[in-house]
Amino acid sequence: MTTINSPKTLTKYFFDPFVIKINLSSEAWKPTPHGHALGNGMTQVPHVFCGKSVIEIGAGSGIHAILALKLGAKNIDITDISEEVNNVAKENAQQNNVSYRHTWVKDWMNFEPIPERYQVVLCNPPFCKSGTPDRRWFIKEMIKQSHKFLNPGGYLIFSQSSMANFEKTETELEEDGFIHEVVYSTRGLFRDYYFTEPGFIEESRQVPNGFEIIDGEYIETLQVYLATLKA
Ligand SMILES: C[S@@+](CC[C@H](N)C(=O)[O-])C[C@H]1O[C@@H](n2cnc3c(N)ncnc32)[C@H](O)[C@@H]1O
Repeated sequence: MTTINSPKTLTKYFFDPFVIKINLSSEAWKPTPHGHALGNGMTQVPHVFCGKSVIEIGAGSGIHAILALKLGAKNIDITDISEEVNNVAKENAQQNNVSYRHTWVKDWMNFEPIPERYQVVLCNPPFCKSGTPDRRWFIKEMIKQSHKFLNPGGYLIFSQSSMANFEKTETELEEDGFIHEVVYSTRGLFRDYYFTEPGFIEESRQVPNGFEIIDGEYIETLQVYLATLKA
């Protein structure tokens, strides 16, 4: 495993009743409100993870993979597009006395799954800084490609902002054979980079109920979807 030399800060995250200790470094995505929402949503539905085989797409620091293991997942394979990020996730697993089954450096868009299917796909998809003109591409592909990883009855669980269009996601889930429920919802202030990301606020104004302005402050809604692949 490559040693990460950048400065690290140990941060503790409480997803009642679990405390996850994460060494943050410049390589890995720092857990954001989307990540907090996903963790809180996961603890609402422990049965989704208990005894299940799970794959996390874009695991970042490993915070959700570690939580899945604490919730009793039988095994979890993690993927990220960056090897350095995967190494941070591995170090964080050690920090929390858990381990992943496989860690893959893979681009989700060209990822052929192992022959064995998983019971759960877990993801906090990038959105605002998705790196493509269509910021929803990762969400769309996550929904579409989950078929390759799941058997009927399998779960896809992910977090999303209102700015990424809940209606579109729900339509895509239905079209791709999922039934869905929202297992966690919260509202929060915009992050500073929303205002500096070119075009982001203007695009979000076109999204039905994309955001609210309360007392002059910009507020997004975050939802955690639990989608079940129909037979
Ligand atoms: C929004 S972050 C989520 C990280 C972590 N789950 C969290 O919530 O803190 C998205 C992660 O996906 C990874 N990623 C981006 N594009 C990817 C791709 N095409 N395939 C796999 N991972 C990707 C990024 O490196 C990043 O770690």
